[in-house]
Amino acid sequence: MIPYKKIIMKKYCVYLSLIITTFFLSCDKNDDVDLDDNQISISFEIEISKENTLRVIANNTSVGSSGLTSYWQFTENGEQVPDIAGPEMYLYTASGEYLVTLTIEGPTGDIKKSQTIIITGEDYVPPALKDATDKFSVGMAVRSGRLSGKHNEVLMRDFNNLTAEYEMKMDQMFKSQDNIDFTAADAIVNYGVANNMDIHGHTLIWHNTVPDWMKNFSGTNAEFETMIENYITTVVKRYSGKVRSWDVINEAIDDGSNSLRNSIFKLKMGDDYVEKCYQFARNADPNVLLFYNDYNVAASDSKRAAIFSLVDGLKAKNLIDGLGAQLHISIDSPSKANIEAVVNGTISRGLLMHFSELDIRVNPNNDITTLTEEREIAQQNKVKEVVEIYDAMPDANKFAITIWGMRDNESWLPDFWGNPEWGLFYNSDFTAKKAHAGFLEALQ
Ligand code: XIL
Repeated sequence: MIPYKKIIMKKYCVYLSLIITTFFLSCDKNDDVDLDDNQISISFEIEISKENTLRVIANNTSVGSSGLTSYWQFTENGEQVPDIAGPEMYLYTASGEYLVTLTIEGPTGDIKKSQTIIITGEDYVPPALKDATDKFSVGMAVRSGRLSGKHNEVLMRDFNNLTAEYEMKMDQMFKSQDNIDFTAADAIVNYGVANNMDIHGHTLIWHNTVPDWMKNFSGTNAEFETMIENYITTVVKRYSGKVRSWDVINEAIDDGSNSLRNSIFKLKMGDDYVEKCYQFARNADPNVLLFYNDYNVAASDSKRAAIFSLVDGLKAKNLIDGLGAQLHISIDSPSKANIEAVVNGTISRGLLMHFSELDIRVNPNNDITTLTEEREIAQQNKVKEVVEIYDAMPDANKFAITIWGMRDNESWLPDFWGNPEWGLFYNSDFTAKKAHAGFLEALQ
């Protein structure tokens, strides 16, 4: 591991270019500029990001300039970057010595201040997530095409649990009634096994990934049920001893009514399709851990109650081992108390708790177009809160926290919500975001 190298910032005083027209301007060593009755004291702070030493955060701390237009140049005579409210982030592409200039367009001319900074561009390698605890595993949603190169490096460093983001879902594997395609699933499982990682199977049954051919199934209901039993049995048996846990059913509870969601499985196998599917999985591998997985478990009290009621029915028959709360959440919701309610309900039932698909939206109101420092910090704080809640559970209920994707530019969130999002733990250059630090802080 390369230790984080302290960055040396040289602060020169200073280059002040003042276009003086009719007023007398005075400049002292602190670069204060008195502009007659418009008193402007120009100053700024530059911080080099610890997570990515090519990135700087620039904050205009000038006094008396509100209402005036200002802009940054992060290289000498470089592109003018508007100085909007709050700190600006700028990403250099290479190490070097750079002149950063802030220009305020004063009433009688431009007021400038510059500072030289040294960018080392060294990669900061943070402590590994998986090394921060031995009480639960730390998971990542993966794709078979994202297991090599930098993805591999990050996976090997930070994670010891894998979930297939989509390649172990029914529409991907169950190609036709007599053909289950294991190619991509095998690649993920084999990678995990070879690297001593746990594998969480996701998901045997989900109303959202019914293969097209199955939607037109023309056999009897009994034949449909046999087909589902065969599918569950074949898949679970194939990965017996390799996959540690399965989401048997994903998202069975309907949002509005909080009752059992209408699906082809409910239609053809009856309301007890849930119990049947769990029984098929138990029979196929009595040692694999069986989970029920859903979203809005924290956000909605009524949905949580409905989920716990479904889980209670399974638990009474010893058909379930754990609950997966997806935790696709935002920086400001759900509340700590609501997340604790999920955990407490799981503990009181003696089940394992999986925070199974963690991502944290920083732009739920679609009011930013680039990731701001402020939102990154809010995300870091929310991650910390989530992990602290998780870690406070009795060890017996701990299982894993899984993050739903690696880099922000790979996340399902922008597509799903239709606006820019930065919900994950890594930037597109694979450097760790503040969210990563928040996870570690919670376990210190
Ligand atoms: C999403 C994946 O991230 C996408 O790549 C895929 O296209 C659709 O599914 N709840 C779940 C996950 O249980 O399986 C979903 O994953 C996100 C919502």
